[in-house]
Amino acid sequence: MTSEQFDLVVIGGGPGGYSAVLYAASAGVKAALVEMDALGGTCLNRGCIPAKAFLETAAVHRHVAHAADFGIEASKPSVNFAVTQQRKNKIVAGLVGGIGAMCKGRNVEVFNGVGSLGPDHTVTVEAPDGTKTTITGRNIILAAGSVPRMIPNFERGGPIMSSDEVLDLDHVPDRMVVIGGGAIGCEFASTFADLGSKVTILEALPKLLPGLDNDVTNVVVRSFKKKKIDIRTNVMVTGHTPNDSGGTTVHFGEDEHVEVDAVVVSVGRRPFADRLGLDGTGVKVDSRGFVVVDEFCRTGEDGVFAIGDLIDTPQLAHVGYAEAILVVKQTLGESASPVMYDRVPWAIYCHPEVAWAGPDEEQAKAAGYDVVVAKHPFKFNSRAMILGETEGLAKIIAEKGADGRAGRILGVHMVGPWVTEQLSGGYLAVNWEATVDEVAEFIQPHPSLTELFGETVMSLTGRNFNG
Ligand code: NAI
Repeated sequence: MTSEQFDLVVIGGGPGGYSAVLYAASAGVKAALVEMDALGGTCLNRGCIPAKAFLETAAVHRHVAHAADFGIEASKPSVNFAVTQQRKNKIVAGLVGGIGAMCKGRNVEVFNGVGSLGPDHTVTVEAPDGTKTTITGRNIILAAGSVPRMIPNFERGGPIMSSDEVLDLDHVPDRMVVIGGGAIGCEFASTFADLGSKVTILEALPKLLPGLDNDVTNVVVRSFKKKKIDIRTNVMVTGHTPNDSGGTTVHFGEDEHVEVDAVVVSVGRRPFADRLGLDGTGVKVDSRGFVVVDEFCRTGEDGVFAIGDLIDTPQLAHVGYAEAILVVKQTLGESASPVMYDRVPWAIYCHPEVAWAGPDEEQAKAAGYDVVVAKHPFKFNSRAMILGETEGLAKIIAEKGADGRAGRILGVHMVGPWVTEQLSGGYLAVNWEATVDEVAEFIQPHPSLTELFGETVMSLTGRNFNG
């Protein structure tokens, strides 16, 4: 029997994979998508979307708790986490269904099973009942994603959870330890502290959110402390001793410990190339498990590409989208530019939110730039006052010109209310390589949170409204 042939076969139905087939199909490509689980991958089923749904529940809890400040008398909020779960599951189900419907509408054939790549662009799909189907693609994209990394002595089970299990919790634990203070750790710490948990973060490096600009991190740390989150940096976690009531005592540092009901291990994610086969192909996997690609996402085998968390690029859904477009354009014979990974937008949805594009102050200096920096706080922004959310700032790093004035905008870093929704102006400025004089020409609506970005840019021209 000859196997069915497609223009494009994608293994993995997460953001990288589903965007690749949908984008390709919109250009008339005959595409197939192989997924062993639910469409949408980690982002939709076990990551970004459910975590942000929980964060929104935490935001509602905060609003109700502070309703009296707005002249609204409400009783002290209490959490019904079963409803939180139902709401999150409904959002996820709606989006997963949407991807399925879009695939159908664009004649993308979806194969349910484990896809493995063999020689000659042949993909074998093993369905859950063991049935095997073979398909071939003129081009192949590997987009199998990543899985949570765990650490020695912390196997999943009971109170020990990765991000996967936390998202299925049926209650808010009274006491929680988060191991790893990166993006995932801070989002869960923020959520559960707002919902009433006593949270401790144990971070191995000297600072929380190690990749962030120091001024931004300081705002998050201050805010987390107000939520009574205990932040312990520079600590090594050594193990844990389970107790009889379903909890455990986590040991760390020099003989220190904390007794908790839940432990979230968020120390990063590892690429999931484990089930891709690849025997007899030119695709290489490095010692850390990443599929090796060049800047065009090309593997060692002609016509076989890899994108998303499977390759060593920022583990962000929207980076997966960008890589999908980059690859599909190449398969269509169109010119395509590599993703500029040092300028992609980043967004962390803890409270306060964090968003940035381009280098922070230290990174810009380390890269050899002479810089001019401006930072303005939300404290004086009218909309922030109206919202009752005045923590945070906008910080802009510009290249110093020969005349000593601020020139090209290199980096825009924000922390505070809804900054994940406000980054687009800064992202455009960085990626358009715009100067502060150019961006200062643009008008921001008043009153708005984005005025802070406009004001910060304006101040770099040497003049401003608010000092
Ligand atoms: P991460 O790499 O961002 O942070 C892990 C943290 O754990 C680091 O600060 C690291 O120093 C610390 N760590 C590592 N081993 C440790 C140990 N044994 N004890 C204590 N601390 C330890 O990884 P994370 O937060 O798990 O996220 C995974 C990926 O997903 C990241 O690339 C992240 O950017 C991405 N992500 C992005 C989000 C967003 O943009 N909103 C949200 C969630 C994840």
